Amino acid sequence: VQIAGMSLEQLRDGAELVVTVAAAADAGIFTALAEQPTDAAALARRTALDERAVTILLPILVDLELLHEQDGKYQLTGDARRTLGDPDSPEYLAGGLPLWLRNLNAWTRLPEVLRSGHPIREEPAADRREWLARFMAGMAAAPAERVRRLVEGCLQRRPGARTVLDLGGGPGHLAREFVNAGLQATLYDTPETIEFVGEAYGLERISGLTLVGGDFLTEPLPAGPFDIVLLSNITHMLSPRQNQELIAKVHASVAPRGTVAIADFVRGRSPRAARFALVMLLRAERGDTYSLEEYRQWLEAAGFRDLAMQDLDPDRQLITAERA
Ligand SMILES: C[S@@+](CC[C@H](N)C(=O)[O-])C[C@H]1O[C@@H](n2cnc3c(N)ncnc32)[C@H](O)[C@@H]1O
Repeated sequence: VQIAGMSLEQLRDGAELVVTVAAAADAGIFTALAEQPTDAAALARRTALDERAVTILLPILVDLELLHEQDGKYQLTGDARRTLGDPDSPEYLAGGLPLWLRNLNAWTRLPEVLRSGHPIREEPAADRREWLARFMAGMAAAPAERVRRLVEGCLQRRPGARTVLDLGGGPGHLAREFVNAGLQATLYDTPETIEFVGEAYGLERISGLTLVGGDFLTEPLPAGPFDIVLLSNITHMLSPRQNQELIAKVHASVAPRGTVAIADFVRGRSPRAARFALVMLLRAERGDTYSLEEYRQWLEAAGFRDLAMQDLDPDRQLITAERA
């Protein structure tokens, strides 16, 4: 049988390999090797890993053509350096892997969730800050190209926009890009998140960026009005009813002829949308991914018109609509 064009054996091998690479990234192997070619024992010391474990892992990474080995010393291939070893490279992809690996714990418990219908909870209070740091790092790892396309898509929809409200803006990678494009940005998130990201991501020091803490479900939104109000990766966390209510509330904060912009996995367009709903099932009591028709209903009921959709990448879409 073929599943997504692969045999079951290929898929199983792929699962093992991607966990291996993610674990190597999480353990700091690629960033350490980006500094200098190193043998297994020295690498284990530098990364505080077990020497036997590193000795077993490195030849696998050579087989995967992520590393070269010469005279017992390992170094990154060019591709691996750009995508896994150098956080400053525009092609760097490894930032999201630790969060992905952590989420995989929940995936392995899918059978349990299918029976109970309740998410896997795993953040003891003491770990809360670490959990938040990991979650924010996962969000901040969004590829630069997607961030650029999102901001460009919003500005094409509302040329000359001067103000933007980023609801649930997390680590501020999107708000920052708007500020770089010359807008005044307001990043709204939970008070706990704002306190963390303000310092950890240096957002407090950015002029042109205002930080506001609150709960967008239960509290009034900043009044603005704003030329653009952005909901990026927010609607998949909410139920249909919550989305309808939030989008209605957003309308009051959008300036006349301003734009609401929603970035998410859109069912019927994104090949990943149905599967992403499983992530919400594993992680939260509610949340789903929605079709363009569902967004249309919420947006038009709230008083928005002229819906448009574009791809940010094959998986993620940007829906924009104008305040009537
Ligand atoms: C999935 S992240 C999306 C982050 C960012 N917008 C992006 O696209 O990468 C969801 C964000 O919404 C915030 N959030 C969730 N519920 C919220 C609420 N009720 N009020 C304010 N912020 C909320 C979370 O703290 C988190 O930063």
